[in-house]
Amino acid sequence: MKILVTGGLGFIGSHTVVALQEKGYEVVIIDNLSNSNLSVLDGITKITGRKPIFEQLDLRDKPALVDFFNRYDDIKGIIHFAASKAVGESLEKPLLYYENNLTTLIYLLQQMQEKTIHNFIFSSSCTVYGEPESLPISEQAPIKPALSPYGNTKQIGEEIIRDTAKAYPQFNSIALRYFNPIGAHSSAAIGELPLGVPQNLIPFVTQTAAGIREQLSVFGDNYPTPDGTAIRDYIHVVDLAESHVAALERLLNSRQKDNFEVFNIGTGRGSSVMEIINTFETVNDLKLNYKIVDRREGDVTAVWADTGLAEKELGWKARLTMEDALRDAWQWQQKISSK
Ligand code: UD1
Repeated sequence: MKILVTGGLGFIGSHTVVALQEKGYEVVIIDNLSNSNLSVLDGITKITGRKPIFEQLDLRDKPALVDFFNRYDDIKGIIHFAASKAVGESLEKPLLYYENNLTTLIYLLQQMQEKTIHNFIFSSSCTVYGEPESLPISEQAPIKPALSPYGNTKQIGEEIIRDTAKAYPQFNSIALRYFNPIGAHSSAAIGELPLGVPQNLIPFVTQTAAGIREQLSVFGDNYPTPDGTAIRDYIHVVDLAESHVAALERLLNSRQKDNFEVFNIGTGRGSSVMEIINTFETVNDLKLNYKIVDRREGDVTAVWADTGLAEKELGWKARLTMEDALRDAWQWQQKISSK
């Protein structure tokens, strides 16, 4: 069965392609290579022994997209990762973010109506919850005004899909709200390839350990948490990838309770920045050069997921540990640094 994965050469996309292929799905990837690399195709092929079909295409190019769906008329489901994701950049270039993340979503949904493709999975984010009122966060927690255009594209994206689902009863959709994906495939054949200076914690940690960055800045140690550093729910990207297969199978087997559903995808466990640093040092037997600096604007204190709904409805649960993720992330960093 053919599944389209947009952004399939990206960090989460590539691991999801592997998970799909391992379950026997035939994958077609669309990617514009704006924040990814063709070499990822080789990494995927090395793991699964099967090269996915690849189409270099920018989803903003509507005629090209129409042409794509004319050529591939047997796609049964779409997993839509392709989007811009840098919070800081989105504040500087809001229109680019709205164009990249929302017009492309609309074009895809239009093509799905046109071609009667019914199954859609959307990459959303726990960023929609903002600073939560209680923890762990369930899917019922209120959506807070977004702090960045990036975060807003995830909220608006969900609304666009919800409205589409209302208008077209035959359309089936799931939004997965990711917590913080980290790690890499244990084979070190694929992983995260950040462009420029990493904004996220783990690639900054691994690049510091590799000597690419001199020092990691820990953003704030005066949060109201046990050790004063902020808490997140870090999930191994391989677990996260598998949640997409579970969501897809729910769609394909008509197990949905509503034709637009939302699930938190995390581990249910919160870890502080200092816990991450200490664990990274322990599992990889090295020392990390870091210093405490001021808080980063827009960061929330603590976020972790209530994963009960995903467990019950998707039959999915994270099985890898933070230790696994930090080991795999370091193994991946060493591999790309040695090239
Ligand atoms: C960030 C985005 C979020 C987005 C996600 C995508 C912000 C405010 N949030 O999440 O909207 O969905 O990335 O991956 O940018 N930290 C350091 N030093 C660093 C980097 C990070 O101490 O050099 C800390 C942060 O303060 C935070 C934690 O590490 O407490 C995780 O940060 P990060 O990896 O950037 O993820 P989020 O901020 O949770």
